Amino acid sequence: MKTNILLLFVCIVFSLLSVGQGDCLRMNFYSHTCRLAEETVKNITWKHVSSNPALPAKLLRLHFHDCFVRGCDGSVLLNSTANSTAEKDAIPNLSLAGFDVIDDVKTQLEKICPGVVSCADIVSLAARDSVSFQFKRSMWEVLTGRRDGNVSLASEALSNIPSPFLNFTTLEQSFARKGLTVHDLVILSGAHTIGIGHCNLLSNRLYNFTGKGDTDPTLNSTYAAFLRTKCQSLSDTTTIVEMDPKSSLSFDSDYYTILKQHMGLFQSDAALLTNKDSSKIVDELLDSNDFFIKFNKSMNSMGAIGVLTGSSGEIRKKCSVVNS
Ligand code: HEM
Ligand SMILES: *[C@@H]1O[C@H](CO)[C@@H](O)[C@H](O)[C@H]1NC(C)=O
Ligand SMILES: *[C@@H]1O[C@H](CO)[C@@H](O)[C@H](O)[C@H]1NC(C)=O
Ligand SMILES: *[C@@H]1O[C@H](CO)[C@@H](O)[C@H](O)[C@H]1NC(C)=O
Ligand SMILES: *[C@@H]1O[C@H](CO)[C@@H](O)[C@H](O)[C@H]1NC(C)=O
Ligand SMILES: *[C@@H]1O[C@H](CO)[C@@H](O)[C@H](O)[C@H]1NC(C)=O
Ligand SMILES: *[C@@H]1O[C@H](CO)[C@@H](O)[C@H](O)[C@H]1NC(C)=O
Ligand SMILES: *[C@@H]1O[C@H](CO)[C@@H](O)[C@H](O)[C@H]1NC(C)=O
Ligand SMILES: *[C@@H]1O[C@H](CO)[C@@H](O)[C@H](O)[C@H]1NC(C)=O
Ligand SMILES: *[C@@H]1O[C@H](CO)[C@@H](O)[C@H](O)[C@H]1NC(C)=O
Repeated sequence: MKTNILLLFVCIVFSLLSVGQGDCLRMNFYSHTCRLAEETVKNITWKHVSSNPALPAKLLRLHFHDCFVRGCDGSVLLNSTANSTAEKDAIPNLSLAGFDVIDDVKTQLEKICPGVVSCADIVSLAARDSVSFQFKRSMWEVLTGRRDGNVSLASEALSNIPSPFLNFTTLEQSFARKGLTVHDLVILSGAHTIGIGHCNLLSNRLYNFTGKGDTDPTLNSTYAAFLRTKCQSLSDTTTIVEMDPKSSLSFDSDYYTILKQHMGLFQSDAALLTNKDSSKIVDELLDSNDFFIKFNKSMNSMGAIGVLTGSSGEIRKKCSVVNS
C-alpha cells in the first residue's frame, strides 16, 4: 500500500513535469478496478487465435505501430474523421489487422467494467496473449495503466513508422527517437519470426536493386531464386511471402538463424548485419531462450513509449472513435 502511494506520488510529479511517464505503468493495474480484465483479454484473444493462426503477427505489429506514433495510446485504432486522415489509413498501414479482436475484447470489458480498461492496454495485452497462445503461458510481462489518446494522423504514421528500405544508420535513428537502443532494434526485429510481407516491399532486391536490373548482392542467391518464383515482377503489390520461411507461424529465434544465412526478407532486416554492434547482438540471439528473455525486456521498453497515464488522455468507450 505504501509503495502504491509513493508510486502514485512519483507519477503525479512526473506527469506534471511531462517526463518519464512510462515509469507509471505497473503490473496488474486493473486488479482492483476490473479484476477479470487481463483474463478476459486473454480468453477472447486465444479464442480468435485458435481459429486464425495468422493473428499473432497482426496484433504484434499493431502494437508496434501504435507505440511508434504518439506513443502507445491506442491512436492506431482510431478511424479517420471528416477532418483528419487517421494512422490506419496511412501508406504503412499495409495489412494492419486485428481491429475486430480489439473491438470484441473492448465490448466484453465495457460489459463487465465500463469505462475502466483503455484501448491502448488492450492492444498491448492482446499482442502478448496472441503470441503466447502457442506456448499456453505468458511469454512476456505487460505493465498496464496506459490511457487513450484522441489524435491519430496519417502523416505521423508516415514519418514515424520505419520503412523496410532503411539502412542501419536510419533504423538506429528511428529507434533512438523513441528512446530505444540498438539492442532493442535487433531484439524487436525478431518479431519478424512470424508473419508475412508484401512483394512490392522487397522486389527491388530481386529485380532492380541499384536501377540496373540487378539483384541485391547481400541476398542469398538460392533464396532470391525462390523469392522470384513468388514475386514475379516489380509491379506485384498483392502477393505475400512468409518472413521466416517455413516457420512463419511459430514464434522462435529462427529469424536470427535465417538472417545469418542472408535470408532476411527486407533491406531493414539485412541491415542488422551491416553494423559491428548489431551483428554481434544477432549472434547472441541465436539461442531461443536468450531471445525470449530479452524480447520480454525490449517489449517493455517499446510498450512504455510516450504513454499517457494518470489523468492524461481518456478511457475510450469505443476503440475506433474518441469519446464525445
Ligand atoms: C525495425 C524496423 C521495422 C521495419 C522496417 C518493419 C517493417 C515491416 C514490414 C514492411 C512488414 C510487412 C508488412 C506487409 O507487407 O504486410 C512488417 C511486418 C511485420 N512486422 Fe515489422 N518492421 C519493423 C519492426 C517491427 C517491430 C519492432 C515489430 C514488433 C515488435 C514488428 C512486427 C511485425 C510483424 C509481426 C509483422 C508481420 C505482420 C503480418 O503478418 O501481417 N516489426 N514489418
Ligand atoms: C477464461 O477461460 C477459462 C478457461 O476456459 C475459464 O475457466 C475462465 O472462467 C475464463 N475467464 C473469463 C474471465 O472469461
Ligand atoms: C470504424 O471504421 C470501421 C471500418 O471502416 C467500421 O467498421 C467501424 O464501424 C468504424 N467505427 C465506428 C465507431 O464508426
Ligand atoms: C471538423 O472541423 C470543423 C471546423 O474546424 C469543426 O467545426 C468540426 O467540429 C470538426 N469535426 C470533427 C469531426 O472533428
Ligand atoms: C489502409 O489505407 C487505405 C487508404 O490509404 C484504406 O483504404 C484501407 O482501408 C486501410 N487499411 C486498413 C487495414 O485500415
Ligand atoms: C520478464 O522479465 C521480468 C523482469 O525482467 C521477469 O520478472 C519475468 O519473469 C520475465 N517473464 C518471462 C515470462 O520471462
Ligand atoms: C543510409 O540512408 C541515408 C538516407 O537515405 C543516407 O543518407 C545514408 O548515406 C545511408 N547510409 C549508408 C551507410 O548507406
Ligand atoms: C530500374 O530502375 C531504373 C532507375 O530507377 C529505372 O529507370 C528502370 O525503369 C527500372 N526498371 C524497371 C524494370 O522498372
Ligand atoms: C543460403 O541459404 C542456404 C539455405 O537455404 C544456406 O545453406 C546457405 O549457406 C546460404 N548461403 C549464404 C551465403 O548464406
Ligand atoms: C484531447 O484530449 C486533451 C486532453 O488529453 C484535451 O485537452 C483535448 O481537448 C482533446 N481534444 C479533442 C479533439 O478531443
